[in-house]
Amino acid sequence: MVRILETERITKAFGNMFAVNRFDLHVEEGKLKSIIGPNGAGKTTLFNVISGKIRPTMGRVKFKGEDITNLSPNSISRRGLARSFQITNIFPNLTVFENVRLAVQQRDKKRSSYFTPVSSLSETNRKAKEILNQIGLIEYQDSVARNLSYGDQRHLEIGITLAMEPDLLMLDEPTSGMSSMETQATVRLIDKLTENLTILLIEHKMDVVMSVSDTVLVMHYGQKIAEGTPKEVEKDPRVREAYLGGL
Ligand SMILES: Nc1ncnc2c1ncn2[C@@H]1O[C@H](COP(=O)(O)OP(=O)(O)OP(=O)(O)O)[C@@H](O)[C@H]1O
Ligand SMILES: [Mg+2]
Repeated sequence: MVRILETERITKAFGNMFAVNRFDLHVEEGKLKSIIGPNGAGKTTLFNVISGKIRPTMGRVKFKGEDITNLSPNSISRRGLARSFQITNIFPNLTVFENVRLAVQQRDKKRSSYFTPVSSLSETNRKAKEILNQIGLIEYQDSVARNLSYGDQRHLEIGITLAMEPDLLMLDEPTSGMSSMETQATVRLIDKLTENLTILLIEHKMDVVMSVSDTVLVMHYGQKIAEGTPKEVEKDPRVREAYLGGL
């Protein structure tokens, strides 16, 4: 199996506190791996290091065989590693279609130093529509983004991330704050995305984790305490003690 992402002993210290501590992670191409763990376990910090938002104190990140440690977030996303943010980055006063189209144009701009820009307006529009179909928002394409439900706004954010045409998509709590109906819609979206994408997911809702994951990794105090199939992890006594028992 091809490892699309690998980290070697990633460590991030804030003062004398190790938020992430010698963390080895590997993600296999085409799979969905979830990271779970109690609040403050270091999950988001690990994402911040992988996506280039913060520099690790120590350790290396390899993506598609290349060392990407200390590259800028832009240059990492250009290589095909995209991340959606908790903080919304949609333009509330633009339509759903315009939000996605801008993201597609942004991608073309970022690429133009490597590729001859061939993207005509119609090609950009086609790509934007394809994404809207994928995220189930085509019927709302002319709605102003701020009028979408909270769940649909979160899906639009994922759509904006997809405009980068990533090989690996990292999602940090995509269902946080959602109703159970909205959560179910997100689970369906994630299932659909796994058909052509590798996904690394941070998620607190155990039913979501159990239904979408190929493998689950459990993080506690910046370290890995267990990893396996959803069933294996659910049964692991250390996991129950550290995490599930505390729920
Ligand atoms: N910029 C920062 N400066 C100082 N401490 C930080 C910083 N970012 C995170 N931390 C600390 O690092 C630890 C790990 O935080 P992190 O946000 O990675 O946890 P998490 O697993 O994502 O938690 P949650 O499930 O609540 O989102 C926490 O103790 C947090 O307070
Ligand atoms: Mg977090």
